[in-house]
Amino acid sequence: MAGIYIHIPFCKSKCYYCDFYSCTLLAKKEEVLAAICDELERRANFLQGETIETIYIGGGTPSLCTPSEIGALLEKISRTYGLLSVKEITVEANPDDLTPEYLQGLHANGVNRLSIGIQSFIDRDLRWMHRRHNASTAIRAIDNAHNAGFDNLTIDLIYGIPQMSLAEWEYNLRQAFRHEITHLSAYHLTLEDGTVFGRWLRTGKIHEIDSESSQSAYLLLHDMATSAGFEHYEISNFARPGFRAHHNSNYWNGSHYLGVGPSAHSYDGKRRTWNIANLHQYLLLEPQDRHFDSETLSDQDLYNEFIMTSLRRAEGINTEELERRFGARKLHYFSQRAQKFINQGILIYQHNTFYIPAVHYLISDSIISDLFEV
Ligand SMILES: C[S@@+](CC[C@H](N)C(=O)[O-])C[C@H]1O[C@@H](n2cnc3c(N)ncnc32)[C@H](O)[C@@H]1O
Ligand code: SF4
Repeated sequence: MAGIYIHIPFCKSKCYYCDFYSCTLLAKKEEVLAAICDELERRANFLQGETIETIYIGGGTPSLCTPSEIGALLEKISRTYGLLSVKEITVEANPDDLTPEYLQGLHANGVNRLSIGIQSFIDRDLRWMHRRHNASTAIRAIDNAHNAGFDNLTIDLIYGIPQMSLAEWEYNLRQAFRHEITHLSAYHLTLEDGTVFGRWLRTGKIHEIDSESSQSAYLLLHDMATSAGFEHYEISNFARPGFRAHHNSNYWNGSHYLGVGPSAHSYDGKRRTWNIANLHQYLLLEPQDRHFDSETLSDQDLYNEFIMTSLRRAEGINTEELERRFGARKLHYFSQRAQKFINQGILIYQHNTFYIPAVHYLISDSIISDLFEV
C-alpha cells in the first residue's frame, strides 16, 4: 500500500513561524498545477504498480486551489494510478478560505478528510503569528465543514507560544474539543531559521520557552485530549478511535510514497528523493531533473529511522518485527541498550513490545538517539 503527496506551493501571506516551502506568486498557479499533473503522469513507475491507499494535498495552502482544480488533480491520479483502493483523501485548508460553497465543492469532488490550520482560538496569538484569520473565522470554518458533510475533520493547534499562559492553552483545547473534530495535531512552536521568528530569535526579540513550561503544556494537552476520548497515538497527534491519519501513519510505518510539486519528498523503500524547493526552477526543469537530491538509505539508516518513528508512536517496537526486518543481532543490540531506560521507567516492555508512555514522548529524542546504531 502506498500514498501520494501533492505540494501546493502557494500562500496568500507567510506566517512568521513557517518554513514549509511556499511563495505568494499566485499568478503562477495554473502553470504549476499543469506541471504537477505532468509530474504525476511521468513518474507513474516510481511506485512500481503499488496500490494507492491515501492521497494528501498539502502545502502551502491547497485551499487556494478551486474545488475543480483539486478535482482535476484527483482525476489525473484516478486515470494514472486508480482510486479504487484509496480510502483517505486529505486536503489542508486555511480557515478563511472555507466558505460553505467552497466546502461543498471540495466534498463533491471526493475529498473525505479536511485538515484545518486553526493554530489558536486567541486573536492576539493569531495576529502575532501573522495568520490571516481570526478566532471567529476559525469556528465558522469548522461549522461550515460539518454542514458540507465533512465528518472526518482534523485541526492544527500550536502551543509553546511565549506569551500564552497555561490557562490560555487550556482555553484553546476546550474550544477544540467543544467541536466535533475527529483528530487533532498539536505542535510545539519551533523557531526555525529562515523565518521571521528565527530572525527574532537571533536578535533577542523572542526566546524559546523553558522546558518546564513546555512539559506542563504538553501534559495538559495529553490529559485533556485523552479525557475527551482521543487516543494519543503519536507525539503530536490525537485521534478518536478509528480516525488515526492513515497517510501520516504510513510515513511512520515505512510505507512508500510519491511526492509531487516543488519541495515534495518521495520514498520507494530504499531511496528518498527531494524535489527542488524553487517554483521557477521546478517549472523550468524537465520532470526527470526535478528531483535535485536523493539519498540511498543504508541498513543502519533504515534501522535508526525505524527506531525513531516507532518510539514516537503508541505502537512502539514489536520485537518480532524488529528481528524480521533487521535480524537477531540488531534486536540484541537494541534490547541491551534499552535496559537502562526500562529501569528508569521511561521505556516499557510488555507483550513483545517496547514503547515510551505518551507522557514521555516530549523527551523521547534523548532516549531514541541513545538507542540508535552509530
Ligand atoms: C503546512 S502547514 C499548514 C497548512 C496550511 N497552510 C495552514 O496554514 O493551515 C502544517 C502545520 O504545521 C504547523 N507548523 C508549521 N510550522 C510550525 C512551527 N514552526 N512550529 C509549530 N508548528 C508549525 C502548523 O500547525 C501548520 O498548520
Ligand atoms: S502555516 Fe500554512 S499559510 Fe502559513 S505560511 Fe505555512 S503553509 Fe502558508
